[in-house]
Amino acid sequence: MPIQTIFPSFIYSDKLTKNTRVLNALNKELRIETEQVRKYDKQGLDWSSENYPNGYTSYASSTEGLDKMHLFSSTFADLEKMIRPHVAKYAKHLQMDLKDRQLVMSNMWINIMPPGAQHTMHIHPLSTVSGTYYLNTPKNCSSIKFEDPRMVCFMASPPRKTNARPENQRFIHFHPQSGQVFLFESWMNHEVPKNNTKDPRVSISFNYDWV
Ligand code: NI
Repeated sequence: MPIQTIFPSFIYSDKLTKNTRVLNALNKELRIETEQVRKYDKQGLDWSSENYPNGYTSYASSTEGLDKMHLFSSTFADLEKMIRPHVAKYAKHLQMDLKDRQLVMSNMWINIMPPGAQHTMHIHPLSTVSGTYYLNTPKNCSSIKFEDPRMVCFMASPPRKTNARPENQRFIHFHPQSGQVFLFESWMNHEVPKNNTKDPRVSISFNYDWV
C-alpha cells in the first residue's frame, strides 16, 4: 500500500537483566527496602493520603530525599546503573542528538498500589525520558495505559474500530511483568487504572533529564 508511517511514538520495554540470579537478589533487596521506606516516610504517607488514595508513593518526599532513591540507597543506585544502558538504547533508537549534554537520572521514587489505588492521566514535566521498573505485578493487576499524544488534534476525526491495529488505537495498555523496565518520552500522557488485585502492585518510577 502506498502509505508511509510518520511521527510514531516509541515505548521501550525489556527485562532489566538476563541474569536471573542478579535480578532475584536485587528484587529481594528492593522489596525489603520499599517496605522499610513506606513505614518510615511520614511525609510520603501524609502526601499519599491526600493525593494518592489507597496508595503510597515517595514521589513528593523531598525533605529526606526519598524522591531520589538512587542517591539515598545503594540498592536503588545499583538499579539505576542497570537502567542506564536501557535508556541509552532507547535514546539511540529515537536518534536523539544529545550534543554535549547527557541523560541523567533526576528522580526515582516508590509506588505501592494496594487494591483500589489508581494513578490518573499525567505527564512528567521538565524531564526527557521517564519510566518504571516493576517489582511486584500480581496476576491481573493494573496495566500502564498510554494516550495518543495527538488527542487534542482530532476534532472531527472518526473513532477507530475496536479491533483496529495498535498503531490506530487511541489508547494502548501494556501489562508489565516483575523484572521489566518500561521507558517512554516524558511528555507521553499515561495512567495506571485502578488496581483490582488483592495484592499490591509495586513499582519504582524515575525521570532522566537532559543536562
Ligand atoms: Ni507517571
